[in-house]
Amino acid sequence: MEPVIDVVNLSKAFGPKVVLSNVNLQVQEGESLVVLGGSGTGKTVLLRNIMGLLTPDQGHVAVEGRIIHQLKREELFETRQKIGMCFQMAALFDSMSVEENVGFALTRHTTMTRAQIAERVDECLGLVGLKDTNKLRTSELSGGMKRRVGFARAIALKPKILLFDEPTTGLDPVMTDVIGRIILDLKAELGVTSITITHDLKSAFEIADRIALIFRGECIACESPDDFRKNPHPVVQQFLRGDADGPFLQDPPPPKRALARAHHKQHINI
Ligand SMILES: Nc1ncnc2c1ncn2[C@@H]1O[C@H](COP(=O)(O)OP(=O)(O)OP(=O)(O)O)[C@@H](O)[C@H]1O
Ligand SMILES: [Mg+2]
Repeated sequence: MEPVIDVVNLSKAFGPKVVLSNVNLQVQEGESLVVLGGSGTGKTVLLRNIMGLLTPDQGHVAVEGRIIHQLKREELFETRQKIGMCFQMAALFDSMSVEENVGFALTRHTTMTRAQIAERVDECLGLVGLKDTNKLRTSELSGGMKRRVGFARAIALKPKILLFDEPTTGLDPVMTDVIGRIILDLKAELGVTSITITHDLKSAFEIADRIALIFRGECIACESPDDFRKNPHPVVQQFLRGDADGPFLQDPPPPKRALARAHHKQHINI
């Protein structure tokens, strides 16, 4: 079966800085892929290549068999309409209210009536625990609320493909679990194909069919959660332990003793 998202030998550098190097990833229809990786390893760059917001230096990304960077403008927009993207920084329209943000794609890209749009907007806001915030301006929202509005906007159109860039960062553990459940529900109800980038290992293991780990621009693992847990690669194991010691960091971390002293000093200063 042809994958819905096919990342083939993808390489991307910015000047001398190689960010992605020969990355291969396939996501099948209805599959939930979680991408893990340290900060600055190119996870967002990967999503931006899938969306056609960046052009690969080498290789390509195909969505439903169409090579993204070869598409004409209209074809690219057509493909993008099938994708709900939840940006890392929420990327809401500042001048619009919550309901205008969530309903934006519905107003622009569907023939739904105003009442139908209002109903879907309420439904999406309800899902992320933001009932009755419809009229608030973006500037009146907390960071976590903005993120949830961004999530509601991404799912409003019930897209076949969803790309989530750290949808739960900055959310409390309960809301993190809610977002994870919504992702699972979308998969069960609509057969959504998704890529989720997250630093939250608990939700990663809950929502993933497969987990990929990007390290120094390369995809060093891509397998079922069970296999990932058992993967002997030292970087995988260090990531799972969340330990500063190991090959993950380029520069060695301060020794644990120094950290303890720093905490002690801070305590005394208070
Ligand atoms: N448009 C750009 N121009 C130049 N450098 C860029 C650009 N976009 C990203 N980078 C660089 O590419 C690297 C990877 O960035 P990216 O945003 O993909 O990281 P990330 O894995 O998403 O990290 P985080 O977990 O912190 O979000 C970084 O070093 C960043 O500075
Ligand atoms: Mg990022």
